[in-house]
Amino acid sequence: MSSTLIHQTKLAGICTLTIQRPEALNALNAAVIRALAEAIQSAQSDAEVGVIVLTGSGEKAFVAGADIKEFADFDAEQGRHLADHGQELLFNRIERSGKPIIAAINGFALGGGLELALACHMRVASDTARMGFPEVSLGVIPGYGGTQRLPQVVGKGKAMEMILTARMVGAEEALQCGLVNQVVPLSELHAATEKMAQRILKNSPTAVETSIQAILAGYEDGVNGFEAEIECFGASFETEDFQEGTQAFINKRKPNFPGK
Ligand code: CAA
Repeated sequence: MSSTLIHQTKLAGICTLTIQRPEALNALNAAVIRALAEAIQSAQSDAEVGVIVLTGSGEKAFVAGADIKEFADFDAEQGRHLADHGQELLFNRIERSGKPIIAAINGFALGGGLELALACHMRVASDTARMGFPEVSLGVIPGYGGTQRLPQVVGKGKAMEMILTARMVGAEEALQCGLVNQVVPLSELHAATEKMAQRILKNSPTAVETSIQAILAGYEDGVNGFEAEIECFGASFETEDFQEGTQAFINKRKPNFPGK
């Protein structure tokens, strides 16, 4: 399913979703958020899809943020609703996805755009990418999870610097501080992201999904991550993937995981 705002391709287990609003540098208005959430939901329930890739159309921007023109005359209640609705509908759905979601950052990833990339499980950036949180220069703060996920990824000090100065960082600085996992020339972005996705696809889908759950558990209020890991580890032993993975090792062959 492709919409005019989200272009979808599906190849060898990888579903690529491209945000198509180049006239506004792929800024996230309500329609894009809705269409992207729907496209992700459909990829998540597609048995042929194992990894989802998010990217932006064109060579200039991944996503240049939430749509400033759309929220320019909002009041406090509308602002709260924008953040609450967006976080629940899209950003949390991405982070909690059992199928890994990789951001292929092909240019500007600013404000809500960087928050979108941060909600993804991994980030591959082109050497042309520029990332940052310009919100305080507009008189607001990040509202799609940026104040929480940025410190988790780069540490509190760097997150404070990036959010309070509103300074953009280039791809190399982003790599250095752990904001992105890999930097490649723009012409190689698609291939590099695909390679990362293919590596994941070789593994047990149930173990990949359970790993995501266990990692996220450590960031949840009131949840002991170590205890969650013990539960998830134990549950793995009940899966057909575990039988297949261990038998394949013992019999010196490649595993063919059933994904259950
Ligand atoms: N919202 C709405 N429109 C946007 C946009 C955004 N976030 N970013 C870019 N656009 C539009 C521009 O208004 C422009 O449209 P027009 O041609 O109709 O004027 C078009 O996209 C092209 O942009 P520019 O002409 O500005 O391109 P540039 O190359 O001169 O500059 C840029 C590029 C530095 C990314 C600049 O567009 C920019 O600063 N954009 C805004 C970035 C920003 O502040 N993002 C944070 C938004 S707030 C947020 O995200 C809150 C949250 O956490 C929920």
